[in-house]
Amino acid sequence: MRVAIGADHGGYPLKGILLDFLSAGGHEPLDCGAYGPGPSDYPDFARAVAEAVLRGDAERGILICGSGVGASVAANKFPGIRSAVCHDSFSAHQGVEDDNMNVISLGARVVGPELAKELVGFFLDARFSGAERHRRRLGKVEKIEEEYRGVCNELE
Ligand code: RB5
Repeated sequence: MRVAIGADHGGYPLKGILLDFLSAGGHEPLDCGAYGPGPSDYPDFARAVAEAVLRGDAERGILICGSGVGASVAANKFPGIRSAVCHDSFSAHQGVEDDNMNVISLGARVVGPELAKELVGFFLDARFSGAERHRRRLGKVEKIEEEYRGVCNELE
């Protein structure tokens, strides 16, 4: 699978480990930065990963910052991106199966490399169930995006 991956300085070392993990697992990682360990801003990498997924350059995305929270908050501002911080295996696969999560956010100051690899494995192996009740709920999420996009445009 083509997987976009991005991290700020908090997640930079873990990104390197996950890049190797993805390649070893037969995936095609797309490195969206940061490209060095110096201080950087997680919204820049959330943008790069989100745009890669929305353009279709990658099927899924992985974001890493210190806690996973900032990266997830930023990623969810992009209509069509569904991201969550997942530090347990159940959420990492159920978030895809039920909620069609397309970007997982990880906190490198919270989880170690082995757990991070396991979480990414669950995330990438999972598929959206397509069940009617989940489509209905996601339709409501999309309606919120649509309605509030209009509100934001009016405020500009
Ligand atoms: C950066 O120090 C840190 O705030 C960031 O990596 C992340 O944890 C934000 O949620």
